[in-house]
Amino acid sequence: MQSESPAILSPTQSDLLSRFKHVRATTEKLCAPLQTEDYVVQPVVDVSPPKWHIGHTTWFFEEFVLDGNLPGYERFDPQYAYLFNSYYEGVGKRVVRTDRGNMTRPSVEEVYQYRAYVDQQLECYLQEHSLPAEVAEKLELGLQHEQQHQELLLYDIKFILGGNPLFPPYRARKAAKEAAQPVGELQFLPMEEGVYEIGWGADTQSADAQSADAQSADAQSADAQSADAQSADAQSADGPGRRGFCFDNELGRHKVYLQAYAIADRLVTNGEWLEFMEAGGYRYFRHWMQEGWQWVQEQGIQAPYHWHRIDGQWQRFSLHGLEPVDLQEPVTHISFYEADAYAKWRGLRLPTEQEWEAACRKHSPAPPAYANFQDSELFEPAVRSSGNRQFWGDVWEWTGSAYRPYPYFSEAPGPVGEYNGKFMINQMVLRGGSCATPRDHIRASYRNFFHPQLRWLFSGLRLAKQL
Ligand code: AVJ
Ligand code: FE
Repeated sequence: MQSESPAILSPTQSDLLSRFKHVRATTEKLCAPLQTEDYVVQPVVDVSPPKWHIGHTTWFFEEFVLDGNLPGYERFDPQYAYLFNSYYEGVGKRVVRTDRGNMTRPSVEEVYQYRAYVDQQLECYLQEHSLPAEVAEKLELGLQHEQQHQELLLYDIKFILGGNPLFPPYRARKAAKEAAQPVGELQFLPMEEGVYEIGWGADTQSADAQSADAQSADAQSADAQSADAQSADAQSADGPGRRGFCFDNELGRHKVYLQAYAIADRLVTNGEWLEFMEAGGYRYFRHWMQEGWQWVQEQGIQAPYHWHRIDGQWQRFSLHGLEPVDLQEPVTHISFYEADAYAKWRGLRLPTEQEWEAACRKHSPAPPAYANFQDSELFEPAVRSSGNRQFWGDVWEWTGSAYRPYPYFSEAPGPVGEYNGKFMINQMVLRGGSCATPRDHIRASYRNFFHPQLRWLFSGLRLAKQL
């Protein structure tokens, strides 16, 4: 263990420190509008209480970064691992998921004290010690993990508030809604038959160059120009995601052969979804996969989640409160089953994740400045501005691809190997990020995944067809 006190923080550590502070503060800012009571409930198993998110993201740093690495580190409370371990079999037993909302203790205040303690210890660790490379990597994973939980927090807050008959708004809109111009007729972007490269690593950079650069501060100062060039390449080909970081499920880069296809130049809108509803989309079995049809019938599904028929008008609960359904906005809160049925009803289909990635790299390689991410603080999908192909932000796009390992995938050794790999069964891949995703968290190769019936997330769809 290295434990000398560096006089000046290495660029890597000062970057980690400032990003750590930023990510932790952002989570707390997202929770600022909550009342204490909002923090505790778990209305359905998939929704975790905000208090649990606050504790769990904190525990992640304690478990994987501080404990056993920061000399003399003592846990805030050794029992918290049992409360805040989500699913890591490798680090011990935990509260069953369905009980997360039954824990009125520790109080919200105590969980924030836990958070402040871990923040202080971690900041000390970064300021006074040289972190071994594998610990710095866990810290980076902890930051990316917390960003994922920021997004989950917004889904969960929306579910908690949207299930309340008072429909309390999370926040007022920052600016009044403008009358937007119609999104216009859907166009298809053609894609040629051929070999495409899929997975993390921009076309012009190698994974080796990236991680070498991330590890050695010298690489940057010795050849600042080429480091900048690499960074620019990473931006253009893979989005603004943390340079050098990707999740294990995006590795390794590999070739696929795609038949000629075409992909829509925008997302499906609420207006188009209403056409599906009015055509009896939810009433005719022919559009549906058997599992989806069973789900529609058992659950009595008639509209996207958060939609309410009030006085003969369709309204939707948004994080700004109840609003009339805006026909121009991208449809959201739909399950994979619904996305698939809609495409089938139109005589089209969902793109595969490989088709999505190839088309994104070709037609919208980097998120435009006006892409609607968490950073915009709209917290709802936006009407498309002209020229925006909506590959980035707004809503996660269901793909037709099952979430399974890529050809060269391997699980990391140790408990963090459980992070993604063990979920590669019975879930579908979504691409592109949403209005709840931090802009610096997403990449063209980013694979999100959820079970096909889930729809409390900001999920939507884009159509595709064979040429
Ligand atoms: C990638 C969003 C499906 O919700 O479990 C959070 C993110 N992983 N903690 C999830 C995640 C570990 C993950 N999703
Ligand atoms: Fe987690």
